[in-house]
Amino acid sequence: MDLSINFAGIKSPNPFWLASAPPTNSGYQVMKAFDAGWGGAVWKTLGIPVINVSSRYGSVNYRNTRMAGFNNIELITDRPLADNLREIEEVKKYFPNHAVIASLMVETKEQWHSLIKDVQNAGADGIELNFGCPHGMCERGMGSAVGQEPEVLKTIVEWVMEAAKIPVITKLSPNISHITDPGVAAVKGGTNAISLINTIKSIVGIDLDTYAPYPIVDGKGSNGGYCGPAVKPIALQMLRELAIHKEINKVPISGIGGIETWKDVVEFILLGATSVQVCTAVMHYGFGIVREMEAGLLQFMKDKGYNTIYDFSGKALPNVVEWKHLNLKHKVVANINPDKCIGCDLCYIACDDGAHQAIAMVEDSRIPNVIEENCVGCNLCSLVCPVEGCITMQKRDDGTQHLTWAERTQADSIPVTFNDELAGGRHHWVPEPADALKNKRKDMRR
Ligand SMILES: Cc1cc2nc3c(=O)[nH]c(=O)nc-3n(C[C@H](O)[C@H](O)[C@H](O)COP(=O)(O)O)c2cc1C
Ligand code: SF4
Ligand code: SF4
Repeated sequence: MDLSINFAGIKSPNPFWLASAPPTNSGYQVMKAFDAGWGGAVWKTLGIPVINVSSRYGSVNYRNTRMAGFNNIELITDRPLADNLREIEEVKKYFPNHAVIASLMVETKEQWHSLIKDVQNAGADGIELNFGCPHGMCERGMGSAVGQEPEVLKTIVEWVMEAAKIPVITKLSPNISHITDPGVAAVKGGTNAISLINTIKSIVGIDLDTYAPYPIVDGKGSNGGYCGPAVKPIALQMLRELAIHKEINKVPISGIGGIETWKDVVEFILLGATSVQVCTAVMHYGFGIVREMEAGLLQFMKDKGYNTIYDFSGKALPNVVEWKHLNLKHKVVANINPDKCIGCDLCYIACDDGAHQAIAMVEDSRIPNVIEENCVGCNLCSLVCPVEGCITMQKRDDGTQHLTWAERTQADSIPVTFNDELAGGRHHWVPEPADALKNKRKDMRR
């Protein structure tokens, strides 16, 4: 099996790249990462050096998971350009076959051209354009201020392409309603590739004593950029939108956002990415996580019979369809395995209060019972159940019928009036409103 990639002309021994961020702030870190197994690194964004604040990071610690979401108000590199260029050159001497990509963010055409020349001379294998930073730099007309204006983005990509002799990746901001707009603009501007997502504009919390948002800088705070495991679903959706777009999918896409394990890597590749970039997971656990990623990816490829990542890139795309093409005749219901159930009641409470009153508590038993005819197969109970594999969703249709909303629309059989007989839930049983008060007394007796 061969994990190597050729990403828009950028060669890398594997698809695992560090995203432009603190882990790529210096040659020391990039060399350490390559030594640990990373195939590429997008250098911390270069530009006119900035002044950073202290503190800089905030976190969403969800229950027992620290940094389920991560937030930063850090800017681009604050190190002098000459130091960064010297270190890029040195890293390339030690690791000529690894990918070193210089992330850039400046303002004027002259600055872009000058910086591009510098990083090319230093031996960078590619350039990434940072049009994503949603804090600080956007106030100065850069970062997400560009990513949110497709026309401006296209103009800057065109400036870059005039000077670039190495492949150019345009990194998009997720802080936009239609990710395909900047995607199309980048391709029209001539970009060789796209990467996404950069961070999501966010406030992770407020200190309840000082009323300041995190991270707190002398009693005040600012909106920051959100990333880490919590943003993966948003990144996957945006990746998919780009990967199916005919004008955009002519160029390769590097997937970023919440990647932590080999499974995350595979999911991004299945939705069309051909390289992945990681930031938060490395900031949390260090460069060593690449070993699990590599072993897991290789095992997956062995199990499925793939030789390269190109063999399965985009394989999930045909299965992501518009809602109107889903089979309305498919029917699943919840099933509780009494041997696994620990009698915690969570499924009963979730279904009774938050779903369709399809789980009953049985007299003298701690094991709840699914009332199949009330179950709409929503999945909620199986998601709240703390015991893996205790509640499974079981198929009840025989698989012979297939009817979608699109087909029903064509056949003129969709509900169109407020009390239409064709409404899906029309004859579905629900308790009488006053039963709520009776049930309460019953619950208290239990
Ligand atoms: C502290 C911090 C600093 C970052 N700095 C940059 C940067 O200089 N340039 C850039 O393009 N992206 C920057 N990013 C965004 C990351 O490259 C990446 O797009 C984002 O964090 C999503 O990936 P993740 O969920 O793996 O962290 C930064 C992220 C963090 C957390
Ligand atoms: S799948 Fe939904 S409706 Fe059915 S029992 Fe579970 S929570 Fe209730
Ligand atoms: S949530 Fe799971 S473990 Fe708890 S009562 Fe329901 S089936 Fe049993």
